[in-house]
Amino acid sequence: MTETLLSAAILRRNTGRPPVWMMRQAGRYHSHYQSLKRYNDFISLCKNPELAAETALGPVHDFNFDAAILFSDLLFPLEAMGTGLRYDPGPKLDFHVRTLADVEKLKGGAEHAGFMQFQADAMKLTRARLRGDKGLIGFVGGPFTLYVYAAAGSHEAAQAAVPGLTNGVYQAFNARLLDLLAANMALQSRAGAECVALFDTAAGEIDAAIYGKHVVPVLADLLARFRRLDANTPVIYYSRGTGPAYWDQLQDLPFQCLGIDWRHDIAAVLARYGDRWSIQGNVDPEWLHLPLDELEPRLREYFGRLHALPAEQRRGWICGLGHGILQRTPEANVRRFVSLQREIFG
Ligand code: CP3
Repeated sequence: MTETLLSAAILRRNTGRPPVWMMRQAGRYHSHYQSLKRYNDFISLCKNPELAAETALGPVHDFNFDAAILFSDLLFPLEAMGTGLRYDPGPKLDFHVRTLADVEKLKGGAEHAGFMQFQADAMKLTRARLRGDKGLIGFVGGPFTLYVYAAAGSHEAAQAAVPGLTNGVYQAFNARLLDLLAANMALQSRAGAECVALFDTAAGEIDAAIYGKHVVPVLADLLARFRRLDANTPVIYYSRGTGPAYWDQLQDLPFQCLGIDWRHDIAAVLARYGDRWSIQGNVDPEWLHLPLDELEPRLREYFGRLHALPAEQRRGWICGLGHGILQRTPEANVRRFVSLQREIFG
């Protein structure tokens, strides 16, 4: 099998066009997703492997992205631990994990990763139906982001989760979570994920020193556990609202690609970190709300600057957004993003 653009770029040896994909590429902006949602709720789309595969493939077929991403959600490991989970339409748990007594109610350990078997089944069906030259991405949530959801119910409420970092609750939660999450990553890689993305959306809600003290060691622990189960599958670590003061603390961790948000100059990040990691990002998702005649010159300028770099400097660039596609993004803008990227990079 020839290597996909995605795999080549993650391993920083892509000599072709940079691959392009977007988070939430299957999502509410897309008529394909909306038509599936008319007859099925979000949880059924995730848990029925046939539907999950169809949901994941829709945007690849329609927009010609270079990779599919598993259609699922990162909160299912919390459900596996016993928190309950509904979407209304945002996620709701039956209770929040704020005390040691709450943690006592949770299940933990690798054996509970079997709860996510529907992800493995969806991954296999997605791979079977995906063209061989397209990449396939698995994903889980970062432990801190999952803890923030467990403690506070949304990542904007991260401050409510901060006391737990020092009173033992976060530590006790991680003791139950980490083997389960590492086994969840391995379940996806065994089922055909070419790489696994670790979405740590809440990371930037705390400052870099607290991040270094409480988030980095837990990430290191998770990745070490995953590496014992799977030595090779590349990992993409995405965080939002972070920057060099955070990333510099990650240099020794065994992941291969750093996903960055839209607040950074991508060429400068490639220049500074491109020898250590492949870099994924980072167009501002808000740009895709602009009228096409305003969007197109901005994209031409952005792509043009990257195109002007020596090819060597973008062999590890994965092109996409600095976060997920927003609701009400016009499909025509997503289509133009992908077609313009192909025009410019050949
Ligand atoms: O195409 C893809 O990107 C694959 C699937 C995917 C979803 N969520 C589907 C989804 C991925 C990769 C995610 C990641 C995810 N989920 C994150 C990390 C990145 C981020 O967006 O910050 C987080 C924090 C979650 C948890 C979650 N799931 C939230 C906060 C919500 C509500 C968000 C919203 O837009 O209202 C969900 C629901 C969800 N996950 C939807 C989709 C398509 C919307 C469901 C619907 O109402 O139809």
